[in-house]
Amino acid sequence: MHSLVVFASGAGSNAAAIIDHFKKNGKARVSLIVSNKAEAGVLDIAKREEIPFLIIDRKTFGETMLIEQINDHKPSLIILAGFLWKIPETLIHAFPGKIINIHPALLPSYGGKGMYGHYVHDAVIAAKDAESGITIHYVNEHYDEGNTILQARCTIAANDTPAELAKNIHKLEHFYFPRAIEFLLEG
Ligand code: GRF
Repeated sequence: MHSLVVFASGAGSNAAAIIDHFKKNGKARVSLIVSNKAEAGVLDIAKREEIPFLIIDRKTFGETMLIEQINDHKPSLIILAGFLWKIPETLIHAFPGKIINIHPALLPSYGGKGMYGHYVHDAVIAAKDAESGITIHYVNEHYDEGNTILQARCTIAANDTPAELAKNIHKLEHFYFPRAIEFLLEG
């Protein structure tokens, strides 16, 4: 069974969707959750699901110890599910072609440093775009610039608020992210 390591900084709804998807089909399991925020909701999910977790800080992030702890879980993929720090080259080089991320917009639009969460949806609504979507991509040493794995789109109604867009984006994420991971695991 494939092992997945998930990095998250926030509520963890994507982590929960991944955990639930693979609990149902048994093809993989989340063996470790890593967060940079001791109070992140994703850690409540880890505790509830009895999944080991690590809380990292700027000092330990990318250090050999962390890489060894991740390696102990022999991950097929390292999944960034709302993780707000840029991945250091040490980690990229330790897990080449194995780190993926989900971005709540159609990259390359609305990507890069500082473009996360409501900032993305605020900008899309302000631009009066007719559609938005998600991008699942490989991670390299630049924010949101790795090769695209999958994009999915949603239309935006003229009176949609950023909150309504966020809700529609989350629906896409929770449907496509686990399935994109499963597709990658089948190689
Ligand atoms: C998602 O919108 C994802 O696209 C972005 O961070 C958010 C994480 O949400 N990278 P959650 O913590 O999984 O609910």
